[in-house]
Amino acid sequence: MSDKTIEIAVVESQEKIANGIYSLWINTPTVAPKAVPGQFINIYTNNQSLLLPRPISICEIDKAGGRLRLVYRVVGKGTDEFSSLKKDDKIKILGPIGNGFPLMDKKALLVGGGIGIPPMLELAKQLNNPTIVAGYRDELFLDTELSNAGQLFVSSDNGAFGTKGNVMDAIKANNIKPEVIYACGPMIMLKALKEYAAENNIPAYISLEERMACGVGACLGCVCKTVEKDHHTHVNNTRVCTEGPVFEAKEVDI
Ligand code: FES
Repeated sequence: MSDKTIEIAVVESQEKIANGIYSLWINTPTVAPKAVPGQFINIYTNNQSLLLPRPISICEIDKAGGRLRLVYRVVGKGTDEFSSLKKDDKIKILGPIGNGFPLMDKKALLVGGGIGIPPMLELAKQLNNPTIVAGYRDELFLDTELSNAGQLFVSSDNGAFGTKGNVMDAIKANNIKPEVIYACGPMIMLKALKEYAAENNIPAYISLEERMACGVGACLGCVCKTVEKDHHTHVNNTRVCTEGPVFEAKEVDI
Protein backbone atom coordinates (compact mmCIF):
# COMPACT_ATOMS: atom_id res chain seq x y z
CA MET A 1 0.00 0.00 0.00
CA SER A 2 1.32 3.40 -0.90
CA ASP A 3 1.72 6.25 1.54
CA LYS A 4 -0.83 8.54 -0.08
CA THR A 5 -1.83 12.03 0.97
CA ILE A 6 -4.20 14.75 -0.12
CA GLU A 7 -2.51 17.88 -1.37
CA ILE A 8 -3.50 21.09 -3.11
CA ALA A 9 -1.16 21.07 -6.09
CA VAL A 10 -0.31 24.11 -8.19
CA VAL A 11 -0.21 23.93 -11.98
CA GLU A 12 3.18 24.87 -13.37
CA SER A 13 2.43 24.43 -17.06
CA GLN A 14 0.19 22.62 -19.47
CA GLU A 15 0.45 21.94 -23.20
CA LYS A 16 -1.37 19.92 -25.79
CA ILE A 17 1.15 17.42 -27.20
CA ALA A 18 -1.10 15.49 -29.62
CA ASN A 19 -4.72 15.36 -30.63
CA GLY A 20 -6.68 15.11 -27.34
CA ILE A 21 -3.49 14.45 -25.31
CA TYR A 22 -2.20 16.92 -22.73
CA SER A 23 0.98 17.22 -20.70
CA LEU A 24 0.54 18.80 -17.27
CA TRP A 25 3.35 19.66 -14.84
CA ILE A 26 2.19 20.24 -11.26
CA ASN A 27 3.99 21.38 -8.13
CA THR A 28 3.24 18.87 -5.45
CA PRO A 29 6.03 18.90 -2.84
CA THR A 30 4.36 16.31 -0.56
CA VAL A 31 3.31 13.74 -3.17
CA ALA A 32 6.15 13.94 -5.75
CA PRO A 33 9.02 12.85 -3.45
CA LYS A 34 7.13 9.65 -2.55
CA ALA A 35 6.17 8.64 -6.11
CA VAL A 36 7.58 5.69 -8.07
CA PRO A 37 7.09 4.73 -11.73
CA GLY A 38 3.78 3.00 -12.46
CA GLN A 39 1.85 4.80 -9.73
CA PHE A 40 -0.98 7.23 -10.35
CA ILE A 41 -2.69 10.13 -8.63
CA ASN A 42 -6.35 11.02 -8.31
CA ILE A 43 -7.38 14.50 -9.36
CA TYR A 44 -10.61 15.95 -7.99
CA THR A 45 -12.77 17.99 -10.32
CA ASN A 46 -14.65 21.21 -9.55
CA ASN A 47 -17.74 19.84 -11.26
CA GLN A 48 -20.23 19.03 -8.49
CA SER A 49 -21.97 16.43 -10.67
CA LEU A 50 -18.79 14.36 -10.78
CA LEU A 51 -18.46 12.90 -7.31
CA LEU A 52 -15.42 10.77 -7.89
CA PRO A 53 -11.92 11.93 -8.76
CA ARG A 54 -10.14 10.91 -11.96
CA PRO A 55 -7.10 8.61 -11.81
CA ILE A 56 -4.20 9.83 -13.97
CA SER A 57 -0.91 7.96 -14.30
CA ILE A 58 2.42 9.57 -13.51
CA CYS A 59 4.62 10.23 -16.54
CA GLU A 60 7.67 11.88 -14.92
CA ILE A 61 8.79 12.47 -11.35
CA ASP A 62 11.02 15.36 -10.27
CA LYS A 63 11.59 14.43 -6.64
CA ALA A 64 14.08 17.22 -5.91
CA GLY A 65 11.87 19.88 -7.45
CA GLY A 66 8.67 18.44 -5.91
CA ARG A 67 6.99 18.18 -9.31
CA LEU A 68 5.04 15.57 -11.27
CA ARG A 69 4.29 15.36 -14.98
CA LEU A 70 0.96 13.87 -15.99
CA VAL A 71 0.18 13.01 -19.60
CA TYR A 72 -3.45 12.13 -20.17
CA ARG A 73 -6.08 11.80 -22.86
CA VAL A 74 -9.34 13.75 -22.69
CA VAL A 75 -12.03 11.08 -22.45
CA GLY A 76 -14.90 12.73 -20.57
CA LYS A 77 -16.07 15.67 -18.47
CA GLY A 78 -13.38 15.32 -15.80
CA THR A 79 -10.38 15.18 -18.10
CA ASP A 80 -11.95 17.87 -20.30
CA GLU A 81 -12.01 20.15 -17.24
CA PHE A 82 -8.33 19.37 -16.53
CA SER A 83 -7.38 20.30 -20.10
CA SER A 84 -8.28 23.93 -19.43
CA LEU A 85 -6.02 24.22 -16.36
CA LYS A 86 -3.48 27.03 -16.58
CA LYS A 87 -0.32 28.08 -14.74
CA ASP A 88 -0.95 28.84 -11.03
CA ASP A 89 -4.37 27.15 -10.99
CA LYS A 90 -4.86 24.93 -7.93
CA ILE A 91 -6.11 21.34 -7.98
CA LYS A 92 -6.86 18.91 -5.20
CA ILE A 93 -5.03 15.62 -5.63
CA LEU A 94 -4.58 12.35 -3.74
CA GLY A 95 -1.43 10.35 -4.25
CA PRO A 96 0.76 8.64 -4.97
CA ILE A 97 -1.52 5.61 -5.38
CA GLY A 98 -0.80 2.04 -6.39
CA ASN A 99 2.11 -0.31 -6.22
CA GLY A 100 4.25 0.75 -9.19
CA PHE A 101 6.65 -1.39 -11.24
CA PRO A 102 9.31 -3.50 -9.45
CA LEU A 103 12.71 -2.36 -10.77
CA MET A 104 14.99 -5.25 -11.79
CA ASP A 105 18.57 -5.39 -12.89
CA LYS A 106 17.81 -7.32 -16.09
CA LYS A 107 17.64 -6.59 -19.80
CA ALA A 108 14.31 -4.80 -19.79
CA LEU A 109 11.73 -4.27 -22.48
CA LEU A 110 9.18 -1.53 -21.82
CA VAL A 111 6.03 -1.64 -23.90
CA GLY A 112 3.50 1.17 -24.02
CA GLY A 113 0.39 1.30 -26.15
CA GLY A 114 -1.53 4.55 -26.74
CA ILE A 115 -2.20 6.37 -23.47
CA GLY A 116 -0.27 3.53 -21.74
CA ILE A 117 2.92 5.10 -23.12
CA PRO A 118 3.32 7.94 -20.54
CA PRO A 119 4.10 5.76 -17.45
CA MET A 120 6.91 4.13 -19.46
CA LEU A 121 8.89 7.38 -19.56
CA GLU A 122 9.66 7.61 -15.84
CA LEU A 123 10.28 3.86 -15.71
CA ALA A 124 12.75 4.12 -18.61
CA LYS A 125 14.59 6.97 -16.86
CA GLN A 126 15.00 4.85 -13.72
CA LEU A 127 16.31 1.77 -15.59
CA ASN A 128 19.64 1.39 -17.34
CA ASN A 129 19.14 2.13 -21.05
CA PRO A 130 16.15 -0.18 -21.59
CA THR A 131 14.60 -1.15 -24.90
CA ILE A 132 11.26 0.57 -25.41
CA VAL A 133 8.50 -0.30 -27.84
CA ALA A 134 5.74 2.27 -28.19
CA GLY A 135 2.60 1.59 -30.18
CA TYR A 136 0.88 4.60 -31.70
CA ARG A 137 -2.32 4.94 -33.64
CA ASP A 138 -1.51 7.77 -36.05
CA GLU A 139 0.33 10.51 -34.15
CA LEU A 140 3.59 10.43 -32.18
CA PHE A 141 3.98 11.91 -28.68
CA LEU A 142 6.73 11.63 -26.02
CA ASP A 143 8.92 9.94 -28.65
CA THR A 144 11.81 12.40 -28.21
CA GLU A 145 11.85 11.95 -24.43
CA LEU A 146 11.60 8.16 -24.76
CA SER A 147 14.48 7.95 -27.21
CA ASN A 148 16.62 9.94 -24.75
CA ALA A 149 15.83 7.40 -22.01
CA GLY A 150 16.43 4.15 -23.93
CA GLN A 151 16.47 2.49 -27.33
CA LEU A 152 13.09 3.27 -28.86
CA PHE A 153 11.20 1.29 -31.50
CA VAL A 154 7.74 2.34 -32.60
CA SER A 155 4.81 0.75 -34.32
CA SER A 156 1.83 2.44 -35.91
CA ASP A 157 -1.45 1.12 -37.25
CA ASN A 158 -0.94 2.53 -40.74
CA GLY A 159 2.85 2.18 -40.92
CA ALA A 160 3.37 5.96 -40.92
CA PHE A 161 6.05 5.52 -38.23
CA GLY A 162 8.21 2.48 -37.47
CA THR A 163 6.80 -1.00 -37.93
CA LYS A 164 3.36 -1.22 -39.53
CA GLY A 165 1.11 -3.08 -37.12
CA ASN A 166 1.11 -3.42 -33.36
CA VAL A 167 3.77 -3.63 -30.65
CA MET A 168 4.09 -7.42 -31.06
CA ASP A 169 4.96 -6.88 -34.74
CA ALA A 170 7.63 -4.36 -33.70
CA ILE A 171 9.11 -6.76 -31.11
CA LYS A 172 9.40 -9.50 -33.77
CA ALA A 173 10.60 -7.21 -36.58
CA ASN A 174 13.41 -5.89 -34.40
CA ASN A 175 14.31 -9.29 -32.92
CA ILE A 176 14.06 -7.97 -29.34
CA LYS A 177 14.98 -10.58 -26.71
CA PRO A 178 14.31 -9.21 -23.21
CA GLU A 179 14.80 -10.77 -19.76
CA VAL A 180 11.90 -8.86 -18.20
CA ILE A 181 8.91 -7.02 -19.66
CA TYR A 182 7.05 -4.02 -18.27
CA ALA A 183 3.91 -2.90 -20.04
CA CYS A 184 0.93 -0.57 -19.95
CA GLY A 185 -1.73 -0.19 -22.59
CA PRO A 186 -4.94 -1.66 -23.97
CA MET A 187 -6.07 -5.05 -22.68
CA ILE A 188 -5.61 -6.73 -26.08
CA MET A 189 -1.94 -5.69 -26.07
CA LEU A 190 -1.43 -6.89 -22.49
CA LYS A 191 -3.00 -10.25 -23.34
CA ALA A 192 -0.61 -10.71 -26.27
CA LEU A 193 2.35 -9.81 -24.07
CA LYS A 194 1.20 -12.17 -21.31
CA GLU A 195 1.17 -15.01 -23.85
CA TYR A 196 4.53 -14.01 -25.31
CA ALA A 197 6.09 -13.84 -21.82
CA ALA A 198 4.70 -17.27 -20.88
CA GLU A 199 5.95 -18.86 -24.13
CA ASN A 200 9.42 -17.41 -23.60
CA ASN A 201 9.46 -17.91 -19.84
CA ILE A 202 10.09 -14.23 -19.08
CA PRO A 203 8.60 -12.34 -16.11
CA ALA A 204 6.19 -9.65 -17.25
CA TYR A 205 4.73 -6.84 -15.13
CA ILE A 206 1.64 -5.28 -16.62
CA SER A 207 -0.30 -2.21 -15.53
CA LEU A 208 -4.05 -2.72 -15.84
CA GLU A 209 -4.80 0.97 -15.34
CA GLU A 210 -6.94 1.06 -18.48
CA ARG A 211 -9.63 -0.64 -16.38
CA MET A 212 -9.79 2.02 -13.70
CA ALA A 213 -12.68 4.39 -13.25
CA CYS A 214 -12.94 5.93 -9.76
CA GLY A 215 -9.43 4.99 -8.63
CA VAL A 216 -10.49 4.85 -4.97
CA GLY A 217 -11.99 1.39 -4.54
CA ALA A 218 -15.60 2.61 -4.70
CA CYS A 219 -17.05 1.69 -8.09
CA LEU A 220 -15.80 -1.91 -8.55
CA GLY A 221 -15.43 -1.09 -12.24
CA CYS A 222 -11.83 -2.28 -12.13
CA VAL A 223 -12.36 -5.77 -10.72
CA CYS A 224 -10.12 -8.32 -12.43
CA LYS A 225 -9.88 -12.10 -12.10
CA THR A 226 -6.81 -13.53 -10.42
CA VAL A 227 -5.30 -16.98 -10.78
CA GLU A 228 -4.93 -17.47 -7.00
CA LYS A 229 -7.64 -16.80 -4.41
CA ASP A 230 -7.33 -13.63 -2.34
CA HIS A 231 -6.14 -14.49 1.21
CA HIS A 232 -8.78 -12.35 2.90
CA THR A 233 -11.83 -12.65 0.69
CA HIS A 234 -11.15 -16.18 -0.65
CA VAL A 235 -12.33 -15.20 -4.13
CA ASN A 236 -10.44 -15.05 -7.42
CA ASN A 237 -10.98 -11.30 -7.74
CA THR A 238 -8.91 -8.21 -7.20
CA ARG A 239 -9.46 -4.49 -7.53
CA VAL A 240 -6.92 -2.96 -9.90
CA CYS A 241 -7.00 0.44 -8.18
CA THR A 242 -6.37 -0.86 -4.66
CA GLU A 243 -4.18 -3.95 -5.28
CA GLY A 244 -2.46 -2.82 -8.52
CA PRO A 245 -2.39 -1.26 -10.99
CA VAL A 246 0.72 -3.37 -11.67
CA PHE A 247 0.45 -7.17 -11.55
CA GLU A 248 2.75 -9.95 -12.63
CA ALA A 249 1.08 -11.16 -15.85
CA LYS A 250 0.88 -14.78 -14.70
CA GLU A 251 -1.10 -13.76 -11.57
CA VAL A 252 -4.04 -12.28 -13.46
CA ASP A 253 -6.58 -13.87 -15.68
CA ILE A 254 -7.03 -11.31 -18.45
FE1 FES B 1 -13.35 2.10 -8.90
FE2 FES B 1 -11.28 0.44 -8.68
S1 FES B 1 -11.56 2.01 -10.10
S2 FES B 1 -13.11 0.42 -7.55
